[in-house]
Amino acid sequence: MRVLASAPAKIILFGEHSVVYGKPAIAAAINLRTYVRAEFNDSGRIKIEAHDIKTPGLIVSFSENEIYFESDYGKAAEVLSYVRQAIELVQEEADKNGRGITVSITSQIPVGAGLGSSAAVAVATIGAVSKLLGLELTNEEIGKLGHRVELLVQGASSGIDPTVSAIGGIIHYEKGKFEHLPFMELPIVVGYTGSSGSTKELVAMVRRTYEEMPEIVEPILTSMGKVVEKARETLLSELEEGQKLARLGRLMNINHGLLDALGVSTKKLSELVYAARTAGALGAKITGAGGGGCMYALAPERQSEVATAITIAGGTPMITEISREGLRIE
Ligand code: MEV
Repeated sequence: MRVLASAPAKIILFGEHSVVYGKPAIAAAINLRTYVRAEFNDSGRIKIEAHDIKTPGLIVSFSENEIYFESDYGKAAEVLSYVRQAIELVQEEADKNGRGITVSITSQIPVGAGLGSSAAVAVATIGAVSKLLGLELTNEEIGKLGHRVELLVQGASSGIDPTVSAIGGIIHYEKGKFEHLPFMELPIVVGYTGSSGSTKELVAMVRRTYEEMPEIVEPILTSMGKVVEKARETLLSELEEGQKLARLGRLMNINHGLLDALGVSTKKLSELVYAARTAGALGAKITGAGGGGCMYALAPERQSEVATAITIAGGTPMITEISREGLRIE
């Protein structure tokens, strides 16, 4: 018996980092996926094959573009620790030890780009392995197990990445609870800086600043939470589409400024953000942990101009779509 499962990448629309402190955040699944095939083997051991991730380059075919991402063995090793934890966790749940399991991974998601590659691989692995072991878990339960994997590997995690990867669509997330927001095609462009940031290190860096100067950092996190609530209100409002997008754009710019204040932006991220705004984006901000990785811009009717501006500023643009679907058994 073989099971093939896939899970999507994500972008955090609003509220990264502050979500780790119990504030709300909004995230969306996007249409880049990680595929995991699971089957039993006779060796009694866990085997992980991750050809795409181990090779120095990872080819991502996206819309009409072929994009080349650098990847290295260090990052591959990090991904593998998520997979191992995911398998061990599911084996514990299933209470069926002894049988070896082989998982094979292929991924369209660049590793370490802030697009939730670790969460997607954890969720797809839990989905495939739990099915193989005969467990009937809902996508929501798989998202919760994905959160446990992140806590084991990273130390700190809000759980938003595995949740949105497991359930798909656009979600409002707070302290482990989520609500689906109405599905909407957002005209976004993601810009990849070409370098990666470590979520674990960035979360730890923000924590150190918080502990050193809570009287300054707490109000920043509170403001971020308020930006998220305003964005949720806007998404749920009766405003006409153009007004909605304009308001969301302004909120993105505020959120980016607050993230910059926390110290998670880089020169390159800010260059891509300003290039996108200059090219007509309504708003642009970091998405994910920062320190490299990706930004995204909201650019109705200006997606190709913004993509060109991101390229000229030295980034790799991806014109992406929101994915309604989360984890799926293929
Ligand atoms: C990473 O995609 C988002 C962070 O807020 C970490 C987390 O929520 O676990 C930086």
